[in-house]
Amino acid sequence: MPRRDFDPAELGPQIYPLLNSVVVPRPIAWVSTTSPTGVDNLAPHSFFTIAGIDPAVVQFTSVGEKDSLRNALATGEFVVSLCTEPMLEQINATGTDYPADTSEFDAVGVTREPSLRVAPPRVAESPVALECRLHLSLELGDCTVVIGRVVHAAVNTDVFDGEPMGRDKDGHLILPEISRLKPLARLGRAATTRAALLAAAREIFAVSGFAEASIADVVARAGASVGSLYHHFGGKAELYLALFEDYQERQEARAASAVKQARTAGEREPLALFLAGSRAYLEGCWVERDLARLFLAGGGPPGFELVTRRRYRAWTRRNAALLSADTDDVSADALVLVLTTVMSEAGHEVAVCEDEPSSQRLATDVLALIARIAG
Ligand SMILES: Cc1cc2nc3c(=O)[nH]c(=O)nc-3n(C[C@H](O)[C@H](O)[C@H](O)COP(=O)(O)O)c2cc1C
Repeated sequence: MPRRDFDPAELGPQIYPLLNSVVVPRPIAWVSTTSPTGVDNLAPHSFFTIAGIDPAVVQFTSVGEKDSLRNALATGEFVVSLCTEPMLEQINATGTDYPADTSEFDAVGVTREPSLRVAPPRVAESPVALECRLHLSLELGDCTVVIGRVVHAAVNTDVFDGEPMGRDKDGHLILPEISRLKPLARLGRAATTRAALLAAAREIFAVSGFAEASIADVVARAGASVGSLYHHFGGKAELYLALFEDYQERQEARAASAVKQARTAGEREPLALFLAGSRAYLEGCWVERDLARLFLAGGGPPGFELVTRRRYRAWTRRNAALLSADTDDVSADALVLVLTTVMSEAGHEVAVCEDEPSSQRLATDVLALIARIAG
């Protein structure tokens, strides 16, 4: 494959978009600071990473001099809240250049939560906040690296699958689950636009349904153009199908990872593996209940039913493989079909539960019943 060589000295300022597009994906820090006059500032920074462990430090880089940088240097304090997928729109909105005396919390409608050890507030809607004191700042040309010591970390308990930082039955640390954190990552320009359109479509379709949703609303919410929607997806129907396919892939990944984890833990019994995958699937139905409800409501674009049927058949085949059903055995075939249908229906019911505990109870009951039928 031929390569193109770039000399940063010759590229000049274009090195910025090039590096931005190839150093990917990057997590995004939602940096909150408080000005010396008491204005709470909030801005996303994707030049962000862990900088060290002992002391525990994180860093973000300000390209040019911005309010976040000025405040962090003046007060010596900042908070990094984790940027998550559901908050994409607000995150982008806080990346706008508001005047220094305007708080992005108020302008964009993000909820403040008091920090424990520092003055700048956390973002209440974010599942993770790292409260930091300035450790070091480093000027690099017109950029400044801000290195902060993490003096306190606050993490929502519901992102842990068990006792936070405890041990599971195999002695592994119970850490936040990526599927629950739903972190947003900077993926270069094209992928960011695609992700923004999908996130906007998710909200609009969930509220209005496929037929009533308008392309204009989706692009307005995504901060994108109609042209880019057609460029990325081809139209409204394809956008809906992409949302469905992405959702299915996440569900499959959840189930596959649970089965793998069970296997790693020494489980060999096909039914137990099936139940492990099914539990993860049902948990996903609850976590992504907005989408599960949307697809359950029906009324997708023409051809959607065919797509779902194809998916369903693939799912049945995977379950047959997992349960090692002998395809010549009619009763084994029927069992796989029954179990897959029960799981699909249970997924629908879990997604419409009132709250998480009732969704978990229902999932547990269904899995116990399946164990009895198939056991
Ligand atoms: C996803 C995203 C990532 C960003 N990353 C950075 C960054 O790493 N460094 C930076 O200086 N600006 C970054 N920006 C732009 C700033 O957020 C933007 O300039 C903001 O207006 C700065 O606000 P402030 O003046 O209140 O600090 C990013 C914007 C977005 C939307």
